[in-house]
Amino acid sequence: MAKGKPVIAVTRRLPRDVETRMKELFEVRLNASDLSMSPEQIIEVCDEAAVLVPTVTDRIDADLIGRLPDSIQMIANFGVGVNHINLDAAAERKIIVTNTPGVLTEDTADMTVCLLLAAPRRLIEGERLIRSGKWKGWAPTFMIGHRISGKRLGIIGMGRIGQAVARRVQGFGMAVHYHNRRRLHEDQERELEATYWDDLDQMLTHMDFISINCPHTKETHNLLNAERLTLLKPHVFIVNTARGEIIDEVALAHLLAEGEIAGAGLDVYGREPEIEPTLLTLDNVVLAPHLGSATSEGRIAMGQKVIVNIKSFVDDHSPPDRVYEV
Ligand code: DGY
Repeated sequence: MAKGKPVIAVTRRLPRDVETRMKELFEVRLNASDLSMSPEQIIEVCDEAAVLVPTVTDRIDADLIGRLPDSIQMIANFGVGVNHINLDAAAERKIIVTNTPGVLTEDTADMTVCLLLAAPRRLIEGERLIRSGKWKGWAPTFMIGHRISGKRLGIIGMGRIGQAVARRVQGFGMAVHYHNRRRLHEDQERELEATYWDDLDQMLTHMDFISINCPHTKETHNLLNAERLTLLKPHVFIVNTARGEIIDEVALAHLLAEGEIAGAGLDVYGREPEIEPTLLTLDNVVLAPHLGSATSEGRIAMGQKVIVNIKSFVDDHSPPDRVYEV
């Protein structure tokens, strides 16, 4: 690419160290307000820029990609999920797209385990009770939850994050089951003590807990639809730290309200930051505000990945985290 500092347009505030390093390396346009930008604002900030750095809060759809200035050669996403970017439209314009895999695996797996424990052990409900001043003290029948040890966890999506969840729950004595596009190598299955289910519906009918850890793609959109959710036994808890669009939230809320699913721990939602209203009324649901990768270590590592991807591109090397080849 042409010499001189390339212009980089960033749509949200990033960790301070990341912004500082970006300013040293590139001519950076930062979003001081940290408010989500409209498509028009994104197009404006991209004027004569070579790289756009969006996040999951931006909708980089075909229309917006079609209107991006010709100067844009790369979209370096701050985040691993790229479901908010229309990859076909970007590929058609020969725009390179990169993401930040690997560095948020452990944090997202930790958040999954937080929810796997918090929902059946009624942690947030208990905390709310204490803060309300209404707690009357310990009693043998008070606020009884459910044990996770000895139970079957069905992991949907056995990529990096699914495997990190599997490793963690072994320590809690859970039996790991999984459904994935591709079966793991037998050595990995042995290491994770994981049982493969080719048929998702079959797996759903046999589990005590479900964890969604697959990316949101055309194939996984609404994967847990109303019909599939009814396959679950009434004692099942569902955890979702992947993307809200993978589950039918209206159907989920209905089944939770009716007691046909025992509980849920959710970190992601289909229309963030909007929450399906029924979910807000239910005590058997733990709601987290998309915190899977929200550690200072994780966010700095994500920023460093963005920088390495851009710098590789600027130096005429192939960025390491290309989502596809153009
Ligand atoms: C990710 O990296 O995909 C997280 O969900 C935040 O975008």
